[in-house]
Amino acid sequence: MNTFKDFMEYSSRIVNDEMIKSVERLKAPEKLKESMSYSLQGGGKRIRPLLLFATLDAFGNDPLIGIKPACALEMIHTYSLIHDDLPCMDDDDFRRGKPTNHKVFGEDLAVLAGDGLLTYAFKLITEMNDFHVSDQVKLQLISELAIAAGPEGMVAGQVADMEGESKELSGEELQYIHERKTGKMLMYPVIAGAIISKATAEQLSHLTQFAYKLGIAFQIQDDILDVIGDEEVLGKPVGSDIENDKTTYVKLYSVEGAKERLHTFITEAKQHVRACGIKDDYLISICDFVENRSF
Ligand code: IPE
Ligand code: IPE
Ligand code: MG
Ligand code: MG
Ligand code: MG
Repeated sequence: MNTFKDFMEYSSRIVNDEMIKSVERLKAPEKLKESMSYSLQGGGKRIRPLLLFATLDAFGNDPLIGIKPACALEMIHTYSLIHDDLPCMDDDDFRRGKPTNHKVFGEDLAVLAGDGLLTYAFKLITEMNDFHVSDQVKLQLISELAIAAGPEGMVAGQVADMEGESKELSGEELQYIHERKTGKMLMYPVIAGAIISKATAEQLSHLTQFAYKLGIAFQIQDDILDVIGDEEVLGKPVGSDIENDKTTYVKLYSVEGAKERLHTFITEAKQHVRACGIKDDYLISICDFVENRSF
């Protein structure tokens, strides 16, 4: 059996190759393709694709079945980062160890590269032709992705995050933001893997809870790293949240309090995945990775 590290490397490699190929073959302005590829290349952890592949593996499926939705998801995530870094949003100059997209290509092209990644992502899911995935399943995957990334999901979270700047938010309000701006895009790959694998209703319910807890935990760690992380390792600036006067887990509960809550969410996530009766080793390893990551 492959180690988790091997599985992570394999997962990143196949996603990187497929995303770069799909941008290269576009009949689009070269500068736009360059800007899209710039942000897609290297540096990202690819945890969302990894979650999709690990879920497929847990049901005994070939992870490659999920390559198209995994790339679609990573492209949408990458667009969200390009836009998140813009001066009108978090105004950050570094991402994935390099100057942010707008620093290199200008704000106009950065917005459009994001638009390109967002819209083309959905086309990729329609290309799931190498495996016997029904049109019904493809439609479900497209619909769930639109919901996770759109105005009820990630975009809602980003709006609430912006509106919450310079305000005293409650724990519940912060939870609303984290669940949407980050949680939904981490829930999607688990739900997509479960849909492709024809999980039972009970398994789907546990996996949804698992991914919900993991998604919140992931953003708590992001908040913690924004305070105690190492910029070099992280590949993005620390102190961005304080500069923008954001409410974060650290602001509400201190670093120690945030770490305790992170641990609780991770413990509960593991309980849900263990209750599914599937091969859960990679999913459990992802939980440990999220709790201990430094980048
Ligand atoms: C950063 O996401 C933005 C959040 C939703 C917290 P990641 O930490 O997954 O960023 P990359 O993809 O590894 O660069
Ligand atoms: C952003 O959250 C989540 C997105 C939808 C991009 P953050 O603003 O905290 O993400 P980072 O810290 O810039 O990666
Ligand atoms: Mg932000
Ligand atoms: Mg940001
Ligand atoms: Mg952050």
